[in-house]
Amino acid sequence: MRFLITGGAGFIGSAVCRRLAGDPANFVVNLDKLTYAGNLASLRSVDNLPNYAFVQADICDGETVSAAMRNYDIDIVMHLAAESHVDRSIDGPGAFIQTNIVGTFQMLNAARGYFESLTGEKRDRFRFHHISTDEVFGDLPFDSGIFTEETPYQPSSPYSASKASSDHLVRAWHETYGLPVVLSNCSNNYGPFHFPEKLIPLVILNALDERELPVYGKGENVRDWLYVDDHAAALQLVATKGVAGESYNIGGNAERRNIDVVSGICAILDKKRPRANGASYADLIRMVTDRPGHDRRYAIDASKIRRDLGWTPSQTFETGLEATIDWYLNNEWWWGPIRKEQGYERLGSLKASGPAK
Ligand code: NAD
Ligand code: DAU
Repeated sequence: MRFLITGGAGFIGSAVCRRLAGDPANFVVNLDKLTYAGNLASLRSVDNLPNYAFVQADICDGETVSAAMRNYDIDIVMHLAAESHVDRSIDGPGAFIQTNIVGTFQMLNAARGYFESLTGEKRDRFRFHHISTDEVFGDLPFDSGIFTEETPYQPSSPYSASKASSDHLVRAWHETYGLPVVLSNCSNNYGPFHFPEKLIPLVILNALDERELPVYGKGENVRDWLYVDDHAAALQLVATKGVAGESYNIGGNAERRNIDVVSGICAILDKKRPRANGASYADLIRMVTDRPGHDRRYAIDASKIRRDLGWTPSQTFETGLEATIDWYLNNEWWWGPIRKEQGYERLGSLKASGPAK
């Protein structure tokens, strides 16, 4: 199979590229703009392989996207490129509208033209796989409810609204133009190569730096966590075996309160890298002002992908979190340069509205 992966220099996209390019029967083209979140260092293990190619491009550039599909004779497009951080979408929603909505429109338009040029088995094989999020379903109460593929969309943040819009566009291209699409909506990922603006890597690296560990609100919000390589395995199944027009929910059945996630990281670090002063890292936890529009709880019912495509995750939250912490302890070469550039300003607190950004 010949794959075009958009956003392959990001957290999940790089896991997908590493997984697919690890099999010499596949050819993998990674198309990525290299925004602040894109990092070619995450692809060090594959970038010399003969079955891997990189194209630096913006998905909003329809001509370049079309040329990549044609020139590399693509069978399956896996569309992951997006602005992905909720806090940034609160500070500056414009980039989310542009990449997540307009960019997905350009991807669909290019894929439609390319698909119409295909014949025979090549045409039967073609898939456009849109990678989305459980955040499109919105806010669940603490004590009940679970997201199925039939749950109505009710996004709360500029990020989730932009992803919901893109999901609607993808379904419209299937219904209207017959583009063979598959969609997947996944819960919170964590694991190696995760950009340290997101909760888990931020807390690990702040703790190692003896910085405060910010927990929004009362820390009671619940997320449903999945190890990134388990997500990549699920995505490969959806892209290659998913039924055109269908969507698949992906999640690890691992709901945890944020405060418990942060305390759990502190407890593991206390054992693996005790603080010089002998205190627990938990002393660094600070409850801070909540994120505006903060969804209380997400929970995924993944029974459809388990039943129809035979997917099962290999990590529990406990094994995956320990593996993740070990990875950050051993891979400063990857995160050191990012932390130097990143700064420590809190993202996503409400600022006065100015000209649209
Ligand atoms: P990420 O922010 O780590 O990576 C995004 C990648 O997209 C980066 O490499 C970036 O350079 C690239 N990109 C951004 N704008 C682009 C553009 N205009 N043109 C080309 N490339 C561009 O994101 P991630 O966490 O790896 O998420 C990947 C996808 O999975 C996103 O679509 C996201 O909505 C979805 N998703 C993420 C999670 C999660 O927990 N991280 C969960 C469910 C779904
Ligand atoms: O649910 C899937 C989504 O998960 C993906 O679609 C997004 O791309 C991905 O970024 C992630 O979104 P979240 O907003 O859930 O992830 P984040 O790591 O930013 O926050 C996780 C939880 O932790 C959330 O309830 C907010 C809270 N939080 C976050 C940060 C950065 C804190 O309490 N403190 C923090 O400093």
